[in-house]
Amino acid sequence: MDYAKALDYAGLHDLPASYAARWAEFQALPAGRLWDNAYLLENQSLFGFSDELTKEILRVRDAVAADEALALLARFFHWVLFVGSKPFLVEKPGALLAEKLGDDKGLFGMIPLIAETARTLTAIDEYRLDRENITGNFKSLNNFANEYKKKNGHWGLDAFSWNCSCVVPYYNKCGHLGFEPISIEYDYTYYYNDKTGSSVVLCGDGISCTGDGLLTSNNCPFPAAFTTKAARGDGWVEGFPIDPLGVALHQTVRLSLDQYRPLIKQWDVLLAFHIPSGPGYTVESTYHSLREAVSFYRRVFPDIDFKGIWCYSWLYTPQLRLLFGPAESEMVKIQRHFYQVPAWRDSGAYTRFVYKTETLEPSTLPRGNRLHRRLAAIIERGGHLTSGGLMLPVSLVDGWMETEYDDTDSLPAFRMSQPYDANDLPTL
Ligand SMILES: CC(C)(COP(=O)(O)OP(=O)(O)OC[C@H]1O[C@@H](n2cnc3c(N)ncnc32)[C@H](O)[C@@H]1OP(=O)(O)O)[C@@H](O)C(=O)NCCC(=O)NCCS
Repeated sequence: MDYAKALDYAGLHDLPASYAARWAEFQALPAGRLWDNAYLLENQSLFGFSDELTKEILRVRDAVAADEALALLARFFHWVLFVGSKPFLVEKPGALLAEKLGDDKGLFGMIPLIAETARTLTAIDEYRLDRENITGNFKSLNNFANEYKKKNGHWGLDAFSWNCSCVVPYYNKCGHLGFEPISIEYDYTYYYNDKTGSSVVLCGDGISCTGDGLLTSNNCPFPAAFTTKAARGDGWVEGFPIDPLGVALHQTVRLSLDQYRPLIKQWDVLLAFHIPSGPGYTVESTYHSLREAVSFYRRVFPDIDFKGIWCYSWLYTPQLRLLFGPAESEMVKIQRHFYQVPAWRDSGAYTRFVYKTETLEPSTLPRGNRLHRRLAAIIERGGHLTSGGLMLPVSLVDGWMETEYDDTDSLPAFRMSQPYDANDLPTL
């Protein structure tokens, strides 16, 4: 069967282009079958699915099994996402919505995800992982399906990449934080000078930035002010550096490779962490979690050659530094220990984790605490909230607690470069 025709038939759009090249390899494998209905019924409590959701998934599974092209695609997506390579090395689709299934389109994505849980249950025993923890992740599928139903009136799934993380054995709680391996897609290289102990992250070529050194990606409302340039020669590299506050600088630095060693580069595997809601996110708990994660993944998954730590979160945007000093906020205290980097523009985390509203329309935003008031003031003044990232090489984890990046010069410069008046934000 032709891949493009099968996608057209199923009404599947916006999939990573790299999947097409894997189709022939998959088709050459012995033909498998979709999981059996009895499997889901036996494991229903493990997924936390209601009887209603289980019934709906089984109905869609039967419809898919009866349709040769859909069944082939469901098995292909399971293989390409989880089996054909390590799942954290595979590009994920934004969603897996088979339009051919009408309102059931989102449940199509459940089929490859449920298929993978069978292998994960085996891995839990093989690697002696915390069963409660991993099957707790399975239950997130149920939460996402419920949320989707509430929003869209029918079952489905979005946040597909996150759903993939919920069904593999790689997402594990270490201390206060949850970790999973990812492959870093940003073209940033982390250089380290062993003699002086100084770190410099350089941008690759052609990254488009706004005037304040954040990225223009993802429908950013502000125009590009500069595009990064990079070059390398015999024994040196040159590029636009990133200030540890998390902004790209419009200037060039040259590093001698005699002095600076690259510790992390694009597509390396890093342990990405997630911050749970509720109390407990402190400098001490973060340090403990980082160290525990390094020793856990080294011990349990020695074949994962991770080079460091990563996080993409609203908790790592330099915009928070415009709002609070370290004395006023644990979030900012923690930020100062990390080398932050600009990351995709996305304000979705603020509706989800901060305001718990549908939109960021200022007139409807709660103003109950300082964070709410100060972020709302940014939006009211024409600013655009975004998340940010961080990079921490494995060899610098032990010294994380003693490392603090000085923002005496960079913070006022960042404040000045905002496309709105950011001067009085900390007093609101
Ligand atoms: C991580 C977390 C525990 C930090 O909270 P914290 O320790 O209170 O942080 P700070 O001490 O720096 O708080 C500074 C101010 O921001 C407020 N604040 C912090 N996190 C907030 C949140 N998620 N929503 C609303 N307000 C928040 C605090 O209430 C405080 O304001 P106040 O003194 O006027 O009450 C908290 O943000 C949280 O639970 N977040 C949800 C999980 C999350 O977002 N994970 C990341 C997914 S990308």
